[in-house]
Amino acid sequence: MSTTGASDGFVPPTYPYDRLEPLEVRASALPGGLVDLSVGTPCDPPPPAVVAALGSSGAERGYPSGAGSPRLIDAARGWMERRFGVGTSRADVAACVGTKELVAGMPHWLRLRRPDRDTVLYPAVSYPTYAMGAVLAGCRAVPVPARPDGTLAIEDVAQADAERALCVWVNSPANPTGRLDDLAAAARFGRAHDVPVLSDECYAEFTWHGTPKTILEHGLDGVLAVHSISKRSNCAGLRVGFYAGDPELVSYLRELRRHAGLMVPGPVQLAGAVALEDDEHVERQRERYAERLERAAQILGRLGVAVDRPGGGFYLWVRAPDALPLADEEPGSDEGAEWRLARQLATHAGALVSPGELYGPAGAGCVRVALVQPMERLELVADRLERALDSARAVSGSERRESAGNAPAR
Ligand SMILES: Cc1ncc(COP(=O)(O)O)c(C=O)c1O
Repeated sequence: MSTTGASDGFVPPTYPYDRLEPLEVRASALPGGLVDLSVGTPCDPPPPAVVAALGSSGAERGYPSGAGSPRLIDAARGWMERRFGVGTSRADVAACVGTKELVAGMPHWLRLRRPDRDTVLYPAVSYPTYAMGAVLAGCRAVPVPARPDGTLAIEDVAQADAERALCVWVNSPANPTGRLDDLAAAARFGRAHDVPVLSDECYAEFTWHGTPKTILEHGLDGVLAVHSISKRSNCAGLRVGFYAGDPELVSYLRELRRHAGLMVPGPVQLAGAVALEDDEHVERQRERYAERLERAAQILGRLGVAVDRPGGGFYLWVRAPDALPLADEEPGSDEGAEWRLARQLATHAGALVSPGELYGPAGAGCVRVALVQPMERLELVADRLERALDSARAVSGSERRESAGNAPAR
C-alpha cells in the first residue's frame, strides 16, 4: 500500500512537449543537429543593461516585495502608458513570477472567492496552461470555439457555462494561431455575465497587423491584462511578469499571493524594471521575428504548405497537407496529418515543430512553427529540405521510367 496515498489520486498528464521526444531524437541524429522550432523559448540575447542589473541591485539579502517593487510597478505603468496610452495607478498593477504560474494558479484562487462557480472558459486552440489551470483546481475547462477566421466566438458561450464561469481567458495576439481578437467584445461579454476577463497579452509587441492592443483600453472594470518580459525582452529565464486592471481583483490576488509566498526575486525585479523601461531592444527583436517568419513561410511553401502570415506573435500556424512531396519512411501510418508533417520535418530537415493537437483537440490538422532560431539555422533547414526534395524527385523520376519500361507494348 502506498504511504503517500498516491495510488488513486491525481496523475499529472504527460507534459505536452515531452510528447515530441521521439521526433527530437530523429532530428538530433542529422549532421548539424536539431533545429528546435517547438517551444516558444527565445534564443536571442537579452539587453545587456538587464543582465547588468541582476548583479547590481543589492537586493539579495532581504525578502523582496511580493506585490512588486515601486520601481518595477512604475516601469510596468510607464510601459503601458507608452505602448497603449493607458494610465494606471500603482494599486492597479502587481508582479508575478513569470505569467505561467499566474495562468495556472488563477482558477484555484478565483474559486476560493467564488465557490459557487466552477468553470474556466478559454480559447479552444490555445496555450495549454489555460485548460491545465482549470484541471489543477478541479474545475471544468470549457473551450470557446473559434470562428472560421480563427477569432474567438465568445458570443457562442452557452448561458449555462457563462453563469458558472470563474473567468474567461483571451489571448491576442494568440499562441499558437497568431490571430488578433476583439478585446472590446471580450470586455463587454465579461461585464454582461459578471465574469472576469483575463487577457493574456504577452505577444502584444509582436503585433504585425495594426498597433499593439490591450483590453485595458476598454476600461479596468472586471478585466485583467497579463504581461511578461519573457518574450519582449528575451528574458524567459528571469521569470517576471505583471498583471494589471480591475483594482478590486488586483488587490485580492496581491494579498492572496503574498500569503502563498509568490515573490519575484529582488534582483530580478530590478532587471524586469530595466527591461520595461526600454523599448529600443524590442524594435530589434521585432525585425528578427519578422525576417524569420517570412523566410520560414517560403521554406514551408517549398513543401506545398499554404502559409497565412500571423496577425501577431512569432509562430506560423499552418494546415498540414494530406501528402508531402518527400519520401515517407512510414507510409500508411495512422498518425494525423499534423504528426506526419512534424515527423517528416524532423526526419528530413532536422526541424522540430509542434503538432497542433498539443494546443487542444481543435488544433488537430495544424502545426505550429516557433521562429526562435537564428536565420543560419533556418537556412540549414532549407538546405536539408531542398536535398530531400531533390532525392524524392529523383526516386519518383526513376520509378516513372521503370513503370514506363514495364508498360505493356501496344
Ligand atoms: C500565451 C502565453 N501565455 C503565457 C506564457 C508564459 O510566459 P512566461 O511564464 O514566460 O511569462 C506563454 C509562454 O509561452 C504563452 O505563450
